[in-house]
Amino acid sequence: MTIVYRAYAPASAANLSVGFDLLGAALKPIDGQILGDEIYISQAEKGQGFSLDVTGRYAGKLSSDPKKNIVYDAFVLFSKMMQQKGLVAPDVHMGLSKNLPVCSGLGSSAASSVAAVIALDAVAGNPLSEQEKIDLMGQLESSISGGIHYDNIAPCYFGGLQLIINENGVISQTLPDFDNWYWVSCFPGLKVSTSEARAILPPHYSRSDTITYGRHLAAFVDACHRGDHKLAARCLSDVIAEPYRKQLIPGFDAMRDFALQHGAMSAGISGSGSSVFAVFEDLAMAEQMKVYLEREFIANEDGFCHICKLDRRGAYVEKVED
Ligand code: HSE
Repeated sequence: MTIVYRAYAPASAANLSVGFDLLGAALKPIDGQILGDEIYISQAEKGQGFSLDVTGRYAGKLSSDPKKNIVYDAFVLFSKMMQQKGLVAPDVHMGLSKNLPVCSGLGSSAASSVAAVIALDAVAGNPLSEQEKIDLMGQLESSISGGIHYDNIAPCYFGGLQLIINENGVISQTLPDFDNWYWVSCFPGLKVSTSEARAILPPHYSRSDTITYGRHLAAFVDACHRGDHKLAARCLSDVIAEPYRKQLIPGFDAMRDFALQHGAMSAGISGSGSSVFAVFEDLAMAEQMKVYLEREFIANEDGFCHICKLDRRGAYVEKVED
């Protein structure tokens, strides 16, 4: 019988208003639905190379050419890394269940990259170190979004709330998060590419915006460590991206107003959009927000809304057939 592994990598919300390029959280719907990409992988016969089947809600949004899928790039980079270690990567068959929409602000490419790397590592007998896996994930992410941003990769891989450090060999640190927060996450169905959303940001910021950014992020991290959820929520405000990017998201201001008038502690853009998030302590209010977003904010049949908690487990791989 062929050994099959299943890798799962959750959706993530980067930036979280207060931490542009430096903060991200992994998401898990409270109703048990899957909000992440899955990969099934098995070794193929020698000489067969790489093959891929793509299924899942957003499979149709990807190129039908397997070599244009980021998981193929993962296979190529993984094989090179193995070669550098004097090893030979196995030929593989992958089944990707593409459950996350691309260009959605939910870390879709990070989820595919992370799932592919841990799946390839598992099927090859775990030859990569932790650092090598992260490096590979970072390279893949940068090939898609035009620069290495670990703010989706780190939460997707490690889970929970991650603060990007990227100094002294430390990619990120887990911040304590809040058990009582519900994260309403909504994709309106509209694509926003990260590179375009970066291109509209100003090349320079004023001294006062720079200080506000540093103050809010420092206060947020401090509040997380002290368990001060009221202060942490208050610091979730964005002077770097939201003022410029909200024009890319129809209905953003109305969504934010509704959220803040109906019990949200904060609301903002998820990653580079078009998804948005709102944070609640009260589940009934979070449910009311979800109803509003489904009625007023979702623009087409590709959109969805989930009430989430943070996914503290992050990505994992398991053997499903032996
Ligand atoms: N932090 C990035 C941005 C997106 O907002 O442009 C995720 O890497």
